Amino acid sequence: MKESKARQILVTAALPYANGSIHIGHLVEYIQTDIWVRFQKMRGNDCIYCCADDTHGTPIMIRARSEGIKPEQLIERMHEEHRSDFDAFDVAFDSYYSTHSDENRQFSELIYSRLKDGGHIDSRDVEQAYCEHDEMFLPDRFIRGTCPKCGVEDQYGDSCESCHATYNTVDLKDARCSVCGNSPVRRSSRHFFFKLADFTEQLKEWIGGGHVHEQIQNKLMEWFEQGLRDWDISRDAPYFGFLIPGETDKYFYVWLDAPIGYIASTKNYCNQTGRNFEDYWCNPDCEIYHFIGKDITYFHALFWPAMLMGSNFNTPKRIFIHGFLTVNGKKMSKSRGTFVNAATYLKHLDPQYLRYYYACKLGSGPEDIDLSLEDFVNRVNSDLVGKLANLASRSVPMLVKKFNGGMGQLSDEARELLGPLQQAADEVAFDYESCNYASAVRRITGLADQVNRYVDQRKPWSAIKEDTGHALETITATVNAVRLLTIYLKPVLPGFAAKIEAILQIEPLHWKDSEKMLENCVVSPFERLIERVDPKKVEAMIEESKEDQQQEQGEPAKASPLDAEPIAEQINFDDFMKVDLRVAQVTKAELVEGADKLLRLELDLGGESRTVLAGIRQAYEPEELIGKKMVMAANLAPRKMKFGVSEGMILAAGPGGKDVFALTVDDGAEPGSRVH
Ligand code: 2FM
Ligand code: ZN
Repeated sequence: MKESKARQILVTAALPYANGSIHIGHLVEYIQTDIWVRFQKMRGNDCIYCCADDTHGTPIMIRARSEGIKPEQLIERMHEEHRSDFDAFDVAFDSYYSTHSDENRQFSELIYSRLKDGGHIDSRDVEQAYCEHDEMFLPDRFIRGTCPKCGVEDQYGDSCESCHATYNTVDLKDARCSVCGNSPVRRSSRHFFFKLADFTEQLKEWIGGGHVHEQIQNKLMEWFEQGLRDWDISRDAPYFGFLIPGETDKYFYVWLDAPIGYIASTKNYCNQTGRNFEDYWCNPDCEIYHFIGKDITYFHALFWPAMLMGSNFNTPKRIFIHGFLTVNGKKMSKSRGTFVNAATYLKHLDPQYLRYYYACKLGSGPEDIDLSLEDFVNRVNSDLVGKLANLASRSVPMLVKKFNGGMGQLSDEARELLGPLQQAADEVAFDYESCNYASAVRRITGLADQVNRYVDQRKPWSAIKEDTGHALETITATVNAVRLLTIYLKPVLPGFAAKIEAILQIEPLHWKDSEKMLENCVVSPFERLIERVDPKKVEAMIEESKEDQQQEQGEPAKASPLDAEPIAEQINFDDFMKVDLRVAQVTKAELVEGADKLLRLELDLGGESRTVLAGIRQAYEPEELIGKKMVMAANLAPRKMKFGVSEGMILAAGPGGKDVFALTVDDGAEPGSRVH
């Protein structure tokens, strides 16, 4: 696969929502994409990686409201958090921007006006669920009720998680607003629609043109059978987003301006670097690639190309679609501790492990990938540390110690060893190009096995005693092998590669460097490349990710007493009397860093002081609690939680969130006295 001319390539990964932290599930995609981009750059292609935060929509508006801040403040905070997580995992964007930007507004308006001028926008009245209490139309995800098909309670407005039925919100029984718990009413308002069916033929041709994986292509073709339906691209105020030109209370639906964020982020890159924007989105020679998860295929393979076709921008050359991440064969779960945030991972483990492991698992298709924690430890320790890093530690320290770091020349035998390593360059490149990283890693570790066998046979550590020439030959060959394998691994492990480059005192490695060899050079002293994974640290990470379902980031708080949990199993009087309820006075109350639902309270129990982590952060400011006398379960065994040990519980009632009321007692009650 020799490439004559540098290709111009624009790569994107799906824009993460600005209301959540990056977790190991997200990282599959950002790492997968980053590896591909790094590979293209090493090939000498003119490739950029653009992304942004996806900042608009109802959930972000509601979350900001619940935190008592403006959406702009929320998205700014999350932007910093996301950037720092990506940096730590060596995910190197050329532009990491925001959909809440002037550029995105301009492109959204431009694309909309081009679609409108082309006759592809319609408007008509739509009846929807409206909450009179919150004065807003409710998206399907903000309505809960009883499934009309199977009767299971507490299901979303559009689909049932129990029987998987999909339905119209009107058909949901006993529907409730999940913000306030009231029943919504039906209300009509005018909406704008994108006439997707206008692009049926163009889309069919595009999808048939090999722009998506074959499996996905077949699935997409099925959608045409029922005919493409109009897509509702507007939302009523209140909404956090861009106003539709000419309207005063209608906004673009977040999914309209989100993919346009790819364009805005490219524009941001061009503004920062002086590159020409038209070269990317208006030049058919530019190859545009989107990496996405399979859940958002519909948006990227139908709506998005149609929007681009109708507004005269380039369409993507390919959409790479990956599957979901499972951990130990199961869906990521907060209670099992397998829903691991990027920041939590980083406290315990080296990010290179995850990059390596994901590369081991990623193929070119949309299959799910499993992070088996045992396999994770084994593969990193046996292959990455035991085979690949080991080759450097078997050669460089001896070269430095016995030969002052001076390499020798390559013998015929050494060239025989290295020939196949050099010849693998094209195959490994093909694997990367087609996103088959699992195959690339298999080839690389297979080659490392050959080199380790060569070292085992030639035993330079004993040869050095009688035949230094023989030993130097072996070491020189091994160092060259290390360099070649580092080239192939560099897209996956840029940090590891940088250390090798420093040791070998060479310029950053490019793919073409596999054609060259090193002889008679001097290397620097060895520095450790990577540590073995300590399984205890994996355990600690999982432990830290286990969340107390009631107190910290459990399921969304129930919104209304009407949705209250069923009364628990009956207990007898004696059981109840075991709970020692006491009056406790708050002497100190403070926020708990990193926990948005907890307060740390110091409680005076009449001479004895206790620290309690209470899940009432959203209902109370710390200051207002100081001096208050509360009721506390004083004989509860101390409990280790994610943010420290809690030595008891205070009594509070309410549906959750802001609506939690701590039970306080009359001022006359003495701290420490029994509650009767
Ligand atoms: O599904 C998601 O997480 C969306 N935020 C992805 C948007 S990708 C693109 F269209 F902006
Ligand atoms: Zn409501």
